[in-house]
Amino acid sequence: MHVQRPFFMALIVTIFGFCQLSAIIWSQSSLKPTPLHTLAQSAKESLLPNGIEVQIGDLHERVVALRDDVLRISMWKGDFAPEDASWAVLASARHGSAPVTLSESEGHFGFRTSALIVELDKETLEVIVRDQAGAILQQDARPVRLDGDAFRIYKSMPLDEHYFGLGDKAGPLDRRNQAFTLWNTDAYRFQESTDPLYKSIPYFMTYRAGRALGVLLDNTWRTSFDFGKESATAYSFGAPGGPINYYVFYGPSPKQVVQTYAWLTGTPPLPPLWSFGFQQSRYSYMTQARVLEVAKRLRADRIPADAIYLDIDFQDQNRPFSVNRTAFPDLPGMVKQLKADNFHVVSITDPHIANLSGHSYLPFDSGIAGNHFVKNPDGSVYTGRVWPGPSVFPDFTRQQTRAWWGSLYRDLRRDGVEGFWNDMNEPSIFDSPTATMPENVVHRIDEPGFASRPASHAEIHAIYGLENSRATFDGLRAIDPEIRPFVLTRATYAGGQRYAATWTGDNSSSWNHLRLTTPMLENLGLSGFAFSGADVGGYAGTPTPELLTKWMEVGAFQPIYRDHSEKGKGDQEPWVGGPEREAVPRHFIETR
Ligand code: NOJ
Repeated sequence: MHVQRPFFMALIVTIFGFCQLSAIIWSQSSLKPTPLHTLAQSAKESLLPNGIEVQIGDLHERVVALRDDVLRISMWKGDFAPEDASWAVLASARHGSAPVTLSESEGHFGFRTSALIVELDKETLEVIVRDQAGAILQQDARPVRLDGDAFRIYKSMPLDEHYFGLGDKAGPLDRRNQAFTLWNTDAYRFQESTDPLYKSIPYFMTYRAGRALGVLLDNTWRTSFDFGKESATAYSFGAPGGPINYYVFYGPSPKQVVQTYAWLTGTPPLPPLWSFGFQQSRYSYMTQARVLEVAKRLRADRIPADAIYLDIDFQDQNRPFSVNRTAFPDLPGMVKQLKADNFHVVSITDPHIANLSGHSYLPFDSGIAGNHFVKNPDGSVYTGRVWPGPSVFPDFTRQQTRAWWGSLYRDLRRDGVEGFWNDMNEPSIFDSPTATMPENVVHRIDEPGFASRPASHAEIHAIYGLENSRATFDGLRAIDPEIRPFVLTRATYAGGQRYAATWTGDNSSSWNHLRLTTPMLENLGLSGFAFSGADVGGYAGTPTPELLTKWMEVGAFQPIYRDHSEKGKGDQEPWVGGPEREAVPRHFIETR
């Protein structure tokens, strides 16, 4: 034994050195790397009615055609495919099936539909997608990289290809040369380079030589996308966990790609007509008298406004679903008076419920009684500090909890409030080092299509705002099936357009932020959120009269047109620059 030890040590050092060298060559070379899977293991192919499944060792890759122009690609290790459930992709689309003609060559398994040709490399499982004429639309640049639960998918990045989508990400319209993380974040006073922002929409469109292709990575973990920052020849996307499951869909026109994205994730409901008008807001109109005064001035100055907002100060000590009766002594009377003048009232309803036992605060008491709040790993209710102080958080992954949440809107609806604003639903938490709840907070999924199971906040974070806005939308419909709900959400995930409109969060009163509204709203529009807006005049800071006037003008041509500003800054209503300036928004609102 003693004699053999140096030999073994040398062998181990040699193997270790070789592995390191391979890793260096792997990471530095753009040449085709050594296959991920040993050649000794041969690939097994299973034919499916709409595609193929290939297995090498315990690694599986399945490529199926949901439609002639829509592919679903998934990969997993072991005997069981991941749960086929989604918060974003409609079951009708996921279960779609198009006929395919199978083909096999020496190096590839594959199939074709009437629109696409698919090839899977027998050794590396790399995928190539071509159009009918054989032109490459998308091609793996290397095998999928797997590291424990983490994965990363690399696609070749031609010099003249461009990338759009990913929801509200700031910066230029074209995502090329940039990298992004999707982790819903309360990004107060975000800047052009701030990332992550409020939403997670893991979908982008590639565009090259007149051909557009959509890619949706349906994974709710902390996904990331790199369009040429890490490598000049490959773009990539991946996550630290969750399913390897993505959809590839062909145009060729961008319009067809957006239509197919809507086929996969749903379309927005028809909004109420009034929500297309000019909307007046601020954090906050502090009293009933002030709300009525602003409304009166809008009418007196012939500014055709349709909506007026109640931000958190209309509530008692910032407690959702309560009313500060001192400042708002007659909420229903105020709403009625406004309605008589054709104003529609939108109120905020944040997701954090004040942690108030023994105060007859119904949202807390009924939420505790119904076991509706998310838990710490030890089973106690998780508490975090937000506007009302210590707060608890509904578990919107449970259908019973969503129904309970929806029922909380009864009183505000009875009082005549017509629109609802789901803010702070990343969720934002003030006293947490991560600005949100810990990743080990426990949700208890109870949702048709999913296994009923506990899920970590790391898995659920991206959909917290989505399911919050869904609970609001569905609740409003349950209370009054005749209305078209107007729900405005800050955080969301792919598919969130089914329930809510959105805005770009806490921007700033600067010329650059005015400029940024265009690419941000365009990318949101390409990502399913046709009905979105940016705070007109900027949220943080006070705009100069010139900036406010120009912003009022530009905002008139954006889908949601809402003047909103933060607490403690100057007024931002259309008249603050004097009568000459006020004529500009009047003209543009009338034009709209
Ligand atoms: C943060 C929101 O982004 C902002 O629009 C709102 O005014 C404040 N929360 C207060 O509710």
